[in-house]
Amino acid sequence: MSPTNLKKLLNSLTLPEKVGQLVQLSGEFFDTTQNIVTGPVQKLGLNPEMVPLVGSVLNVVGAEKTRKIQQAYLENSSHKIPLLFMADIVYGLKTVYPIPLGMGATWDPNLIRTAYQNTASEAYASGAHVSFAPMVDIVRDARWGRSLESTGEDPVLNASMAAAMVEGFQHNLGKDSGIAACVKHFAAYGAAESGREYNSVDMSEMKLFQDYLPPYKAAVDAGTEMVMTSFNTINGVPVTASSYLLHNVLREKWGFEGIIISDYAAVNELIAHGYSSNQSEAAKDAFVAGVDIDMQSSAYANNLDSIITDGQVDESKLNAAVLKVLQLKNKLGLFEDPYRGADKQVESNAILSSEKRELAREVSNKAMVLLKNEKNILPLDTSKKIALIGPYSDEQELLGLWAVHADRNETVTIADAFREVVPSDRLLVRKGTNITDDVEMLRGLGLSDDVISKNILTKKQAKMEFDSAIEIANKSDVVIFAAGEHTFESGEGGSKTNITLPENQKKLIKAIRKLGKKIILVTINGRPLVLTDIIDDVDAVIVAWFPGTEGGHAIADTILGKTNPSGRLSMTFPYSVGQLPIYYSRLTTGRPETKSTHSSRFTSRYIDSTNNPLFPFGFGLSYSQFNYTDMKLSGDVLHEGEKLTVSVVVSNQSDRDGIETVQMYIQDLFAKVVQPEKRLKSFKKVLVPARSEVTVSFDIDVEMLKYFDNQLHYNFDPGDFKVYVGHDSLHLAEARFVLRA
Ligand code: IFM
Repeated sequence: MSPTNLKKLLNSLTLPEKVGQLVQLSGEFFDTTQNIVTGPVQKLGLNPEMVPLVGSVLNVVGAEKTRKIQQAYLENSSHKIPLLFMADIVYGLKTVYPIPLGMGATWDPNLIRTAYQNTASEAYASGAHVSFAPMVDIVRDARWGRSLESTGEDPVLNASMAAAMVEGFQHNLGKDSGIAACVKHFAAYGAAESGREYNSVDMSEMKLFQDYLPPYKAAVDAGTEMVMTSFNTINGVPVTASSYLLHNVLREKWGFEGIIISDYAAVNELIAHGYSSNQSEAAKDAFVAGVDIDMQSSAYANNLDSIITDGQVDESKLNAAVLKVLQLKNKLGLFEDPYRGADKQVESNAILSSEKRELAREVSNKAMVLLKNEKNILPLDTSKKIALIGPYSDEQELLGLWAVHADRNETVTIADAFREVVPSDRLLVRKGTNITDDVEMLRGLGLSDDVISKNILTKKQAKMEFDSAIEIANKSDVVIFAAGEHTFESGEGGSKTNITLPENQKKLIKAIRKLGKKIILVTINGRPLVLTDIIDDVDAVIVAWFPGTEGGHAIADTILGKTNPSGRLSMTFPYSVGQLPIYYSRLTTGRPETKSTHSSRFTSRYIDSTNNPLFPFGFGLSYSQFNYTDMKLSGDVLHEGEKLTVSVVVSNQSDRDGIETVQMYIQDLFAKVVQPEKRLKSFKKVLVPARSEVTVSFDIDVEMLKYFDNQLHYNFDPGDFKVYVGHDSLHLAEARFVLRA
């Protein structure tokens, strides 16, 4: 539709019809088989007349379902504006990739761009128009359940992933396979105090701009069509009502012209926040701040027209918001074809195709992080007799909480994958123990007694299972123990204070250890775990995350050496929960632990724990052996407008080709605002062939040395800097240079 016709259409709408475009409701409101008025409408306290006018649908996917809803809606609609279907397609629709924390560990934005392109093609054929992704919140506190949805703790890494994900989704938008991205949750949701879900965020603007906002900004620069607001307050103001963040920063500073949507019920929750005193005020506060679409609350539907007719807000503001929604519908081609890509035949060919599974397997492989490999026990000698034990040994639930539209039956389990390549006389499989014995916690997480009784062994069964696991361990040369968290223990509403492996799992691992068996621990997890109390009981550790549909294959590929692990942690693995939040880019203090002249008591440290994490940001082993030598800096003075080049030689002293992720960090040694010990500035993934070496170099320019000060000026301080290059945030070679203005 031409821009002129679009405006004409807008002008032809009644006030309630305009408001309807700014309301999003979930699928149950469109379910013609139930009485929606006594059901969902009543529950939401919604004016029932608004239901046929709403502009978008939440979390319905599937060619048949979306077509049916669209058709019924358009038949009853006088304005004939098609619905937008928006859904949480966070890390795959049907072909599920590893959770984003795992994707972050690939340090490979190009690969991730392709993964999101593939996801978009599945989503397109399933009738989805917008995905509520990427989720790019910086997360530094592993207690937060939603750590799994983020690519990690670092602004540079998250920003590169954010851009890649948006580009992947929106590739061919409006043509034949792209869907619109909705970056979330703007802003700083991942900094919720104490890692507790929905908690407030209190941080300096300097930190907000320096560390937390860059990934959202990268998504905006990459052209994301939509932005979702976060549930949290920042410095006392709920983001959903923050004109400062939504208008001044997002619209004015960053030039974002797309749609801003609230999170689920967040407009109404302005009342619970203690910010708006009633629903009409909540609607006005969110709308004036800049929220265009109200997701799943009755605030806009019930109040926006009277707010306009009372003259509290000018209708031109409403028109501007509605126009944005119409423009997106137009860009997606919905006025020409309201069903767009939704096609049952195309859908069945597109989803879970062998090419897509192949890519998911590759991503999953590249996301695996090898944390320990004592005496090079891995890759495993295939002549060994293997006992595959643990709650995840033959489990299809490898997808994680936000794979909401996926089919668990399509998952390749770890045992399935091993059975494909290891003869049956050399492979024994046993669950051995429950995923957790804490049934109360599972009940609290919403699991029904029926589900619990199907999945959790009784005490008697558990004892028998334990004994038979010990028996097969005894008969084997090596034990692979597939451990981890229950899916419900991470994700939204999954904040925890204890993030070790469950006691029952550790008990079985330790019992197997007593037999003198070699143990390879594979963890299935949605957050960094505290592995301190188990690390010495195992010979190898592979962090597999929730690895996705092809997770079983990828785990077998890694263990058996079909692939060489190249994943690097994108989030610090703490030594203890008491260290949280923990992240590598910490600020310097006047009494650092190592360099202070004070006695060790009066330094910045814990008296009962190391300051260091168990595994630092950027860490991950390989079956190859990499060495760093010959770090060179092209000069020791940097002038504005010029650049320095730092280079390093990475050699592979093994007989296996391997991929190394070379990381470059910079420290501003003396600045008007104290700077972190180091910040990641760049990284390169390089293939280093066996017994050879490659030279890797990075340019350093003045742009890289700028920071936000406490007046929000973005500038550099002339003076001394250090550049570090190496394998991870702790193991680095360094050089010094001076910046002269
Ligand atoms: O997209 C999600 C968001 O991440 C959390 N609240 C619900 C939204 C829609 O399902």
